[in-house]
Amino acid sequence: DLGKELLENFVVKICHAKSSWTMVVGAVSGGVDSTIAAKLMSMAIGDRFHAILVDNGVMRMNECAQSKVLLQEHLGINLTLADASELFLGRLKGVTNPEQKRKIIGNTFIEVFEAEAAKIEKEQEESGKGKIEFLLQGTLYPDVIESISFKGPSATIKTHHNVGGLLEDMKLKVIEPLRELFKDEVRELGSILKIDDELVWRHPFPGPGIAIRVLGEVTPSQVEIARKADYIYIEEIKKAGLYRKISQAYAALLPVKSVGVMGDNRTYEQVIALRAVETTDFMTADWFEMPYALLKKISSRIINEVDGVNRVVYDISSKPPATIEWE
Ligand code: XMP
Repeated sequence: DLGKELLENFVVKICHAKSSWTMVVGAVSGGVDSTIAAKLMSMAIGDRFHAILVDNGVMRMNECAQSKVLLQEHLGINLTLADASELFLGRLKGVTNPEQKRKIIGNTFIEVFEAEAAKIEKEQEESGKGKIEFLLQGTLYPDVIESISFKGPSATIKTHHNVGGLLEDMKLKVIEPLRELFKDEVRELGSILKIDDELVWRHPFPGPGIAIRVLGEVTPSQVEIARKADYIYIEEIKKAGLYRKISQAYAALLPVKSVGVMGDNRTYEQVIALRAVETTDFMTADWFEMPYALLKKISSRIINEVDGVNRVVYDISSKPPATIEWE
């Protein structure tokens, strides 16, 4: 019923545009919020909704390909995948400042998204169809509160929201079907819509992705190391049945080298930091008490399976004073 009510609510909003060819675009990331918003939208107006998935080169392992299959094949959403990974990674070259990374990724994202939307609009116009008038966003209630009282610590410490600029540039009206819901309600809605549990319970992932989890310069090889370590970490957490108990977990690659030993040889390689937190609102968070046996297994797998890493550490800092992301 919750889904039905929401759906009716925003279908009415779209219909007021009257033109039967009004189109809606929206960015999807493969995360819970954007996927559920996109599913609702495609249920409402079918092919007149175009989802755009931008590959920024700093997503998790296999994430783009898996999200494409899920959105397009399982959920039947009209999807364009824009592979801009080289563009993003090229612009990140030599950049080490976290806010600078966010700015580059946010601006490049807007540029790529707008170019894709313009292509879609042109194709539609050529076939006698209408213009893009709306932008779908998966905004949740906590985001609404945060932007009203935009003086909160997270707003000044890290600039989180990367798509605001889209609205100014494209002059689109916004549709936010989830703006009155909290995360647990969105998950409930996902279950009502029969969206895969794997996606419904997925941990949040920041827009700038692995770029803010590779401390220091973001190069393709550094991203690869962080990605592989993260994959092993999450795989083991899931196998241990702890994934849902943890609010967010990831592996960060530290910009330091440390001495190790392998057989008869001395090694001088990088360090992976494992982070896992429990939180309800992400404004404060406790570090998760990961079982030692599990940490042991994860550490040994990462050191054995990921080239370039000879040391793994576990982060035991709560927020505040630490933040959830390292950058
Ligand atoms: P922090 O690190 O501020 O993170 O404790 C709180 C939550 O926000 C996410 N986060 C971001 N999300 N763009 C995003 O879309 C960002 O730049 C960004 N920085 C942090 C973080 O993953 C956590 O869930």
